[in-house]
Order: sequence, then structure tokens, then C-alpha cells
Amino acid sequence: MAQPIGKVCVTGAGGYVGSWVVKHLLSNNYAVHGTVRQPGDAKYAHLTQLEKASDNLKLFKGDVLDYDSLCSAIAGCTGVFHVASPVPSSTVPNPQVELIEPAVKGTLNVLKACLEANVKRVVVVSSVVAVSLNPRWPEGQIKDESCWSDKEYCAATNNWYCLSKTEAESEAFEFAKRSGLDVVSLCPTLVFGPLLQSSINASSLVLIKLLKEGYDSVENKVRQIVDVRDVAQALLLAYEKPEAEGRYICTAHKIKTRELVDKLRSMFPQYKYPKSYTEGGKEHMISSEKLQKLGWSYRPLEETLVDSIESYKEAGILD
Ligand SMILES: NC(=O)c1ccc[n+]([C@@H]2O[C@H](COP(=O)([O-])OP(=O)(O)OC[C@H]3O[C@@H](n4cnc5c(N)ncnc54)[C@H](OP(=O)(O)O)[C@@H]3O)[C@@H](O)[C@H]2O)c1
Repeated sequence: MAQPIGKVCVTGAGGYVGSWVVKHLLSNNYAVHGTVRQPGDAKYAHLTQLEKASDNLKLFKGDVLDYDSLCSAIAGCTGVFHVASPVPSSTVPNPQVELIEPAVKGTLNVLKACLEANVKRVVVVSSVVAVSLNPRWPEGQIKDESCWSDKEYCAATNNWYCLSKTEAESEAFEFAKRSGLDVVSLCPTLVFGPLLQSSINASSLVLIKLLKEGYDSVENKVRQIVDVRDVAQALLLAYEKPEAEGRYICTAHKIKTRELVDKLRSMFPQYKYPKSYTEGGKEHMISSEKLQKLGWSYRPLEETLVDSIESYKEAGILD
């Protein structure tokens, strides 16, 4: 087997996005250190089954709130992909402890450990929710990487996940400025695509519910969708391209819920789709032009939907 081209660390390696990042790195011939919170747990079995994992993947016990655990995983790595962050499916009782602390303190711990280990570049997975919640952005103007969500607005509207991602990403760039660490961030929109892990993550649940719940009514809002495999590719580009800098919005398809459901129904008529729609909700116009200039491209939405549904069927989530 060819020698790995470099050693990198992925935090949150067992999650939805993290698993695809690990898979993509292994197939691109990297040696990977992955952090997981409970090594040995069956929920990480898919990682050890990935191609090249037996030679090139090493899992470490790592909690982002435990600085020392991160240092062991990051030591000897040239690059780090910081993916780990809580992503709730519903409201949480204590957002400060459950969301904001792990996101913000966790990110700073990862960055400190990277500085200590002389890591060359850190790619932080942020989110479009750190871009789009800005009521002061001029109406009708496309949001690009210069737009930041307004933290006070996020808090006032109880958007705690959005606050956690906005604060984590802005603190990451402040840390980079202070320390000279090379930090690049990626801000994906709603991520769909096949599951590698056995549990159901929050964004996949959005699609699964549209297929299974048979809602009487749902909001016909605009969805910005990107495939998990294209996110993994974007993260690798952000790591490998020397000219990559700052933030990158990562989005592929804009579609209203009704149109999405019609598309799904035409391919898979057997599921329990929403019965009616309510109008409303503001459209966020955003652009991934900067990422595309870096060489990123994305697959068609139909491919994402078909591969997602096939993977849900295989996992026994859908009939
Ligand atoms: N999916 C999307 O639509 C989407 C869109 C934009 C951005 N993102 C970002 O992508 C990243 C991954 O999300 P995902 O969709 O893959 O969700 P996920 O499957 O729930 O993954 C979250 C990961 O974070 C880890 N984690 C949470 N708290 C941690 C802690 N205290 N210490 C260490 N690890 C911790 C989890 O580890 P365990 O496996 O141990 O629980 C898990 O691996 C997040 O940063 C999220 O904000 C996701």
C-alpha cells in the first residue's frame, strides 16, 4: 500500500459529517486520527470498516471539553478538521451547557491543541446559521462570507444552536488573529446524503420526517441543501489549497419544501408525504461562489435524494 501523504486529525469522527470526512481522507491516502467520545462503542463500528481504515485510521478517546484528550489525538498531525459540535434535533433544556460551551470552549481547546502541536492548518466546520441570521443585512442582497449572524438576535430569538455556531466560528478567527494559527472555516447549509453511521443525525431526520410523518401541514420554506460527500470534498479543498483563507459558504441547491416533496414523490411514491403547506418564512439568498472559485463542484440534487433514501432503506429506517 502507498505511504500516506500526510497525517491529519478529525474531531467528531463518528458523526454524520465526520464519518464522511474520515472516509474521504482515507480514500485520498491520508493517515487519520479520529476523536470519538466512547471508543469501543458499537456506534463507531462503521469507521473501522472503511477502506484503508485498518492501516490508516487510529481512533482516540476525545471530548472537546477535555483539552488533554485533544492533545493526544492531534500530536503529530499536520492538519485538523474540527467537526465535533452538538447538533440538536429539538430544543434543549440548558443551551449554555449543552450547546454553547461545547461549541465555543470546544473549538478554542482544539485550536490551542493545534497551536501546541504546530499544526499547519485547521479547517473548522461552522454552519450557514453563522452567516444568515442578520436582520441588518440589506434586503435583496445576496449573503456572502462577509455576513455574520447577529449574536444578540440569535439569543433574543432563542436560536441557541445558531448562537453556538456563530460564537464558535468568530472566536476561532479571533484566536487565529491573536496566535497566527492558519484557520479556515466552512459554512454548510442543510446536509443530506447517505448515512455511514448507524444512528440518525438531526439533518437526515429532516428528510426522513418528510418521507415518514405524513404531516397534515408543513411550512413551504426555502431549503438550501448540500450533499454530505460534497461537504467532505469542500473540507479537503479548504485544507489542501494553499490559497484558501477565511470562510467558505457551502451550498448547492435551493428548493421550496413543496417542490422537494414533489420531486421525492415522483421518484418514491410509496412514502407518507405532507398533505398541505403554509406559506411564509423569509428566503435567505446566499452564494457559494467563493468555494466554487477554489475548485468545488457539487452533484445533482436527485443523486443526493436517491442515495439518501437508499441508505435509509438499507439501515431499516424506511420500508
Ligand atoms: N448536518 C448538517 O446539516 C450540518 C450543517 C451545517 C453544519 N454542520 C456542522 O457539522 C458538524 C457535524 O454535524 P453532523 O451533522 O455530523 O451531526 P452529528 O452526526 O450529530 O455529529 C456531531 C458530532 O459532534 C460530536 N460531539 C458533540 N459534542 C461533543 C463533545 N463535547 N466532545 C466531542 N465530540 C462531541 C459527536 O460525537 P459523538 O459521536 O461522540 O456523540 C458527533 O461526532 C457540526 O459542527 C455541525 O454544526 C452540520
